[in-house]
Amino acid sequence: MSERIPEEVVDQIRSKTDIVDIISEYVQLKKQGRNYFGLCPFHGENSPSFSVSPEKQIFHCFGCGAGGNVYTFLMDHDGLSFQEAVVQLGEKAGVDYEFSDAGSTQDHQKTNESREFQDHLDAHELLEKLYHHLLMNTEEGQEALEYLHNRGFTDDQLKTYKVGWALPNWEFAAKLLEKREFSLPSMEQAGLIIKRDDGSYFDRFRGRIMFPLTDERGKTVGFSGRMINPGKEDPKYLNSPETPLFQKNKILFNYHHARGAIRKNKSAVLFEGFADVIAASGIVHNAIATMGTSLTGEHIQQIRRLTDSVVVCYDGDKAGIAAAYRAAQDLTVKGLSVKVAMLPNGLDPDDYIQQKGPDAFKTDIIDSAVSLMSFKLRYHKLSVNMNTEDGRIQYVQAMIREISSLSNAIEKELYLKQLSEDSGVSIQSLQEQLNKIRPVSEPVQPEPSRPVEQHLPAKSSKETKKAYYRAEQHLLIYMMGSEETTYTVQSLLGDQPFHTDDYQALYTYLLAYYENGGRADPGAFMQFIPDRHLRAAAAELSMTEVNSEVTKSELTDCVNEVLKHQKLMHIKEKELALKQAEQMNDVKKATELGMEIFQLWKALKR
Ligand code: UTP
Ligand code: MN
Repeated sequence: MSERIPEEVVDQIRSKTDIVDIISEYVQLKKQGRNYFGLCPFHGENSPSFSVSPEKQIFHCFGCGAGGNVYTFLMDHDGLSFQEAVVQLGEKAGVDYEFSDAGSTQDHQKTNESREFQDHLDAHELLEKLYHHLLMNTEEGQEALEYLHNRGFTDDQLKTYKVGWALPNWEFAAKLLEKREFSLPSMEQAGLIIKRDDGSYFDRFRGRIMFPLTDERGKTVGFSGRMINPGKEDPKYLNSPETPLFQKNKILFNYHHARGAIRKNKSAVLFEGFADVIAASGIVHNAIATMGTSLTGEHIQQIRRLTDSVVVCYDGDKAGIAAAYRAAQDLTVKGLSVKVAMLPNGLDPDDYIQQKGPDAFKTDIIDSAVSLMSFKLRYHKLSVNMNTEDGRIQYVQAMIREISSLSNAIEKELYLKQLSEDSGVSIQSLQEQLNKIRPVSEPVQPEPSRPVEQHLPAKSSKETKKAYYRAEQHLLIYMMGSEETTYTVQSLLGDQPFHTDDYQALYTYLLAYYENGGRADPGAFMQFIPDRHLRAAAAELSMTEVNSEVTKSELTDCVNEVLKHQKLMHIKEKELALKQAEQMNDVKKATELGMEIFQLWKALKR
């Protein structure tokens, strides 16, 4: 284990860091009342139940229960170790501390990745470095490098995207991985090598330009390899197969790099090919691309975490335009606002940049993206033969359907006018047609955010209803807010534990936390709780709004609920014994127990 970072430094970094800023890099947050809300990055959802409190410097999801402080956010989200999270934020906050290699990735146990998962990541990293070296620095990579230069990729771009070259050998990677003591069956699982019938292994990627594919935190989880001159039989691009690490329908190329720019621009540019992302990277920084699949719900979910607005820039050929139409439609249905950037003459973004340069691409294509409806006007026109009457009628009908789904009257009129000019049909006739159509699909408005009013966490409904459960919650909330209150509650409770296991555990941690000199500060307390599940429970409680002032009599009432439950449990035990005595016909014992129960009830009512 590497050197411990002193607690003062950890605290100093936390106090210099605003959790809202950090989480904003990952989640689009909107202020509502005291807190910020957004779509939870830990589970898929359509309405925001993820909240961040700037006052308390904690986050909590009412949907999935995730919660913690800024460090645990990075640990949970990016799979960082605690030390890595501290180092990352320390560097950001400009805290002057010699972190040595406290946060280096080599010698620590990953928190939430199995050994095998980690092996797969390590193997990808190893090969990525090697491929990159082969491309940039060796004779074997010369031809590939020249090809890439000729395509207009700069060395800077090749370095940023760690583009590489896989030798045409059959067993180059297999031999290397074996020498480095990776398990070959595991490497086959990772999609890097393939087993022959005789049990030996050969490389999946041979003689290809290698593009590393990264996950949300920038770790390479797969490759796409391009042949320089693909023959008829060969696929131009060969991708890693679906593995636990690499799932095409979830991966957005460049997501990790582009995250900051997407947030800053308040929009993302979506391409069809990753080559386009790289080609445009000098001028379009907020670009991402799917990996040869159509845009999935998972992709959209990831985009929505960063922005509400997308420019779809697909290839200018027929297939590209049809795919853009579908993607734009799907994004709109999920409540995003969409523009479409259109390329002339069947070009793809990369071709256009090669022909006209990046600046022209930015101004004439990306910045000139048109509204979804304008795109549809062109799309439907392209899909019919406008030289025939039938074609024109089809076009008008398709557009009337599109226009009917608009909710804004001004927009409706605007596009009707445009359609009328386009088709030569009078506005009145178009309007009549429009009136006949009921909207096919109402455009879905972004789902409204949850009300700010927050509910106490729900356990099993049976438990929530119990008065002691709510009392324990309230006590913990008050105690997290004040050391003094904690000691008052401690003296009122005496030895009586909380009935809810998690709350008893939190209570114990809280006492230890204050005894260790901790201040009433939910963000700092989270740090103290080693257990992720309990941390989430604490975050949940901290996010609950209660009156900040609590009187001694309110505390006493809560404590009494806890004590009362203990007594009720005691009575229940006696009642059970009474039943047994009756069954055994033990009249004497039953009478005694009956008296005792009566007394206990009497005492409870007092
Ligand atoms: P394109 O054929 O449009 O590739 O496929 P491109 O981006 O223009 O690439 P270059 O310019 O020829 O090098 C778009 C995407 O479809 C996937 C890849 O993810 C590619 O980026 N694809 C394409 C494959 O997976 N396999 C293929 O054989 C071809
Ligand atoms: Mn291309």
